[in-house]
Amino acid sequence: MIRTLEQFDAYVAAEKKIEPKDWMPDGYRKTLIRQISQHAHSEVVGMLPEGNWITRAPSLQRKAILLAKVQDEAGHGLYLYSAAETLGVERADLIDDLLSGKAKYSSIFNYPVLTWADIGAIGWLVDGAAIMNQVPLCRCSYGPYSRSMIRVCKEESFHQRQGYSIMVELMKGNEAQREMAQDALNRWWWPSLMMFGPSDKDSEHSSQNMTWKIKRFTNDELRQRMVDMTVPQAECIGLKMPDKDLKWNEETGHHDFGEINWDEFYNVLAGNGPCNKERLAVRNKAHHDGAWVREAAVAYAKKNQKIRA
Ligand SMILES: [Fe+2]
Ligand SMILES: [Fe+2]
Repeated sequence: MIRTLEQFDAYVAAEKKIEPKDWMPDGYRKTLIRQISQHAHSEVVGMLPEGNWITRAPSLQRKAILLAKVQDEAGHGLYLYSAAETLGVERADLIDDLLSGKAKYSSIFNYPVLTWADIGAIGWLVDGAAIMNQVPLCRCSYGPYSRSMIRVCKEESFHQRQGYSIMVELMKGNEAQREMAQDALNRWWWPSLMMFGPSDKDSEHSSQNMTWKIKRFTNDELRQRMVDMTVPQAECIGLKMPDKDLKWNEETGHHDFGEINWDEFYNVLAGNGPCNKERLAVRNKAHHDGAWVREAAVAYAKKNQKIRA
């Protein structure tokens, strides 16, 4: 068991996992609580835009797939709240911070989902970006977080494929369907690239998190990977990326791409995106309406305890 800073540093350097009862620096604990709880909140809020489309999905099969995906996201939220609790915080407090607007969640969920093609674009790009961010977290130095990421990533890859498959299907359809797919890509592409966070030169947490092996790659490295992975997928089905500066760079072996609108990024982050208020209002209502379920679950657990005693 780790009891000192020297032991902690040696463990992290040797790629061994830090576990809940080990000694850890305060900053490490705080960073993880912030990151894991924001991640949990993102999974939960992420269910809202897609949940709205379950009844509107165009076939029974698509409804079943989307329902399964949204349920997976609920599961991700639960693993992650559990992982956060191992650091000595209460789940109820974390959820209160989400509901009051004090805690952040991924800004991508503050954009509206206008058509069925958006569900395709979200799976393909938003879950695609989530995989890019989360695969390196399977090797995070904090044991409970890294282990929860292994299963989450397996499910994310199903989410990404179901989204791409919707886009493939639409691109095989008629003119109106192809236009719908292109329009969804146009609206979701830039916000998806923003999911990797500020540019490295403006990222406040990066270097310490690298030393602690919470983070393995910088925001810009992951963003570049996303661009390099997605561009050929778009080309393959006849979609055009909404970026006039995008081109393959023979020298670097990567795609060059245009400047992100950072004003938009910081504006949505500050709570002024198109759906920030709506998402929080819906989440608050769901929490309020679900109070009786939580009370009933507690009463049932108590009754079972009494029977066993
Ligand atoms: Fe997820
Ligand atoms: Fe997902």
